Amino acid sequence: MKDLSPKPGDLDPIEVASRDEIGALQLDRLKWSLRHAYDNVAMYKARFDEAGVHPDDLKTLSDLAKFPFTYKNDLRDNYPFGLFAVPREQIIRLHASSGTTGKPTVVGYTKADIDNWADLVARSLRASGLRKGDMVHNAYGYGLFTGGLGAHYGIERLGATVVPMSGGQTEKQVNLITDFKPDGIMVTPSYMLNILEQFHKAGLDPRDSSLQVGVFGAEPWTDAMRREVEEAFDMHAVDIYGLSEIMGPGVANECVETKDGPVIWEDHFYPEIINPATGEVCADGEMGELVFTTLTKEGLPMIRYRTRDLTRLLPGTARSMRRMEKITGRSDDMMILRGVNVFPTQIEEQLMATGGLAPHFQIELYTAGRMDAMRVYVEASPDAADELSKTAAARMLTKRIKDNVGVSTEIVVGEPGDVARSQGKAVRVIDNRKKE
Ligand code: DLL
Repeated sequence: MKDLSPKPGDLDPIEVASRDEIGALQLDRLKWSLRHAYDNVAMYKARFDEAGVHPDDLKTLSDLAKFPFTYKNDLRDNYPFGLFAVPREQIIRLHASSGTTGKPTVVGYTKADIDNWADLVARSLRASGLRKGDMVHNAYGYGLFTGGLGAHYGIERLGATVVPMSGGQTEKQVNLITDFKPDGIMVTPSYMLNILEQFHKAGLDPRDSSLQVGVFGAEPWTDAMRREVEEAFDMHAVDIYGLSEIMGPGVANECVETKDGPVIWEDHFYPEIINPATGEVCADGEMGELVFTTLTKEGLPMIRYRTRDLTRLLPGTARSMRRMEKITGRSDDMMILRGVNVFPTQIEEQLMATGGLAPHFQIELYTAGRMDAMRVYVEASPDAADELSKTAAARMLTKRIKDNVGVSTEIVVGEPGDVARSQGKAVRVIDNRKKE
C-alpha cells in the first residue's frame, strides 16, 4: 500500500493547535451556539427555561452538562422545519432520513453551513490520504441521504475530480472504476463487498485496480472487515463518521497514517460521552453514548444531541483533536439474548475469522418458546460450496460465536449469492420475534 501520510503544511493549523487553543475556540463558539439556539428556536427556549438554565450560565466547557439533551424524537415532533434557527428562505439545502417508523427527520443548512460542511469533508478526505488533483469515485447515495451530496461537495472542495456515481448498478460501478482509474472511493463498507464480488465476477483482479484508499462509513464495520478489504484491493480503508442531525458525513474521520479511530473535528462539534441510563457525563476513555453539540451550525443548531452511538473518547494522536473509538454498535442495534448483549459487529468479526464463508450476513431474531433466539444467515464462499465444507463452516462459526460472544446461535449456510446484498446501509437484523 502506498504511503499517504500528510506532508508538513498539508493540514489546517487548528488540526495541530494546542489543546488550550482548541478549548478556547470551543468555549467562544459554544457560547454563541447556545445563545443562537435559545434566541431563535422555541423548543430550546422552553427547554432551557424549564431546566432553569440560560446561555449566560455557561462559563466553562463543563458547564454544558447543565443543559438539557435533544433527542431524535424532537426532530419528529417539530417536523418539518420547527427546529430551524433561521427563516426558511435562508436555508439553501434540505436533507431527510427516511426512518423506519413515522415521519422522516428533516435537516436544513444555510449557505455558511454548506460551506463548513464542504470544508470538513475536504479535511476528512485529506486525513484519508487524498489530495487536490486526485479522482474520487463517490458511491454514497445521492438524494435526501446526506452521504452522496455531502461527499460530493467535499471532494470538489478538496480540488479533486468527483465521479458522482451514487449507489447501485454494481456492474457499472466496476466498469467506471476500471476505465476512469480513480485514486479513492467513498461508499458504505457493506456495498464495497458487492463491488468486490463484481470485480471477481468480471474476472478482474481488484488488486490491479487504481484504488489507493476507501473512505467507508454510514454504518458500523469492524477491523476484521478493514483487513479483508485492504487485502482484497491492496488499498487503505479508513473510517468516516457522521450523522444528518449534526451535519452528515465528515463529523469525524480517521487518519490514514494511524487508523486508530475517527478524529472528531472538535472545532465544529463538541463531543461528550454520557451514561445512557443516568445522563451523567463520563470521563474520557469511558464507554457510553456519544452526544454532540454543534458549535457553528446556523440552520439547525443541535444542543447535546443524543446520537445513540456507543463509543468512548480517546486522546489525540495524529491530530490534536480527540478521537472516538471506532463505533461497533448503536443502542438501537443491541440485541439481548439470555442476558448477553450482542451487536451485529460481533457476529461480523467471528464470520470474518471463519474460513469457507463469504463476508455477507443477516441476523434473524425469533421467538423460541418464551425466549428470544438468533439465527445467522451466511453463505459459502464459491470455493467451498460443497456440503461437507458448509457443515464444517457452520460448526466452526457456531463455536466461535459461543466462545467469543457468549451466545448460542443457529447458523444457516446458504449457496453463494443467497444472502441479500446491501445497496447502501446494510440491513443486519430482521426482527421476527412474536409481539406480545
Ligand atoms: O450515515 C452520514 C454518513 C454518510 C456518514 C456517509 C458517513 C458516510 P445518517 O443516515 O443520519 O447519516 O446515519 C447516521 O449512521 O448515528 C451511526 O449510527 C451510523 N454511522 C455513520 N457513520 C458511521 C461509522 C449518515 N463510520 C448514523 N461507523 C450514525 C459506524 C456509523 N456507524
